[in-house]
Amino acid sequence: MLYETQFENIFDANDDIDLSSYEKRVKEFLTTLREKRKYGNNRRKFLYPYLQLPSERDDLTEIRRTADRISKRFKDVVVLGTGGSSLGAQMLVALTGEQIYVPNGKARIHFPDNLGPHTMHQLISELDLGNTHFLVISKSGGTAETIAQMLACFSYMRALVGDNEIQNHFTVIVQPGKSFLHDFAVKWRLPIHYHDPDLGGRFSVLSIVGLLPAMIVGLDVVALRDGAQQVLNRMMNAEKITEMAPAMGAIAVYELQKNRNININVMMPYECRLTGFSNWYKQLWAESLGKKGKGTTPFSALGPMDQHSQLQLFLDGPNDKYFTVITVSSKGEGPTIDSMLIEDKDFYFMAGSTIGDLVEAEADSTVEALGERGKPIRQIKIREINERILGALIMHFILETIITAELLGVNPHDQPSVEYGKNLTKEYLSRLHNVNQTISVPGANILPKKGAKKASSTNKGKVK
Ligand code: PA5
Repeated sequence: MLYETQFENIFDANDDIDLSSYEKRVKEFLTTLREKRKYGNNRRKFLYPYLQLPSERDDLTEIRRTADRISKRFKDVVVLGTGGSSLGAQMLVALTGEQIYVPNGKARIHFPDNLGPHTMHQLISELDLGNTHFLVISKSGGTAETIAQMLACFSYMRALVGDNEIQNHFTVIVQPGKSFLHDFAVKWRLPIHYHDPDLGGRFSVLSIVGLLPAMIVGLDVVALRDGAQQVLNRMMNAEKITEMAPAMGAIAVYELQKNRNININVMMPYECRLTGFSNWYKQLWAESLGKKGKGTTPFSALGPMDQHSQLQLFLDGPNDKYFTVITVSSKGEGPTIDSMLIEDKDFYFMAGSTIGDLVEAEADSTVEALGERGKPIRQIKIREINERILGALIMHFILETIITAELLGVNPHDQPSVEYGKNLTKEYLSRLHNVNQTISVPGANILPKKGAKKASSTNKGKVK
């Protein structure tokens, strides 16, 4: 196994959870996932393409070619995309180190996913644009932030390199069909890779969306997919519910919310390189499950840093949280603390230890403290952090999310409120410019009746 999970204060004898009825329900759900589907010219073994991706290899040659084209020529790569078109790649690239940059003389990679005038200005003015490549990712091809960023960067690049050279500085990932980004890329002859239209943004990390940036920074994407495949196989072939780690995670969330009113899921890895993982998980969980008044709130913390920030609340605050602590064996790793430098006997405890020893001890003590306080906690233990293990964690949490959706009775694959927000942004920006045209706002009808800002009732979602 690439990781081990251990629960405390959830499935204990006095917690009266009927696992056999869950076993039946989850097995039925897994059967529905096995439905074969035709996608374009391909026949796939699973209902959803993200379950098929771990075993695919054919697509990697083309991704590799593009990654080489970019990384051999450019010093900097800027990924323009947001949400599922950025967070997965950020999580993967973070494996190379705490900073989002790339060692070994390869291109540095930047993710200005949070649109900000200052950030954009700084990025454009500090980069050596002649040596910069822009990777524009948007499944829909119409997300305002991404389009705005691309157009801003495009103008600077056009002024610098001219119309004939500009296509070497941009690569676009977009789904086929008409969209602003697609049409723009065609017009300017920018290289296009197609985003699978059946693959939702937050489920796309194992496709070109995550793998192209990962290859640019030199990660082993085959190991990544292998790790995901191992978890999927284990899940699909398990006999007992207790052997299905993602299902046990989903049941824990569901039971804790139903019976103990626990509505917050804290994700706390003790590893700097998993910060991107927590951000990806937050989006996956929130956007897939927060529907129809259902879902739980994902919350991220980082160990050991948050021992000095949030742990007080976790241990002593309200009993409204379920904790997932990811611990990584780090004994003997990192710099050693020289015992000769320690004269104060209160600090003898760290003499001769490594930084890794200290982090491991802190992680274990947090798990123990939370358990002793009766907090519902799951410890996920991993030996080290690498592509294979990250791939395993990715598939674990994709499965956990869709099983939780099944238990809650929500569709994990849509995001009606996000779409509504996107449409509203267009409406507000148009108003700002006083555009004298009618803009229809699809999705306006999903707005809750009370407490939300709505386009004027006479307009019914249209701006004159
Ligand atoms: O997961 C999702 O579907 C969303 O977070 C999208 O990825 C995000 O809104 C960006 O959309 P797009 O890729 O169409 O620009």
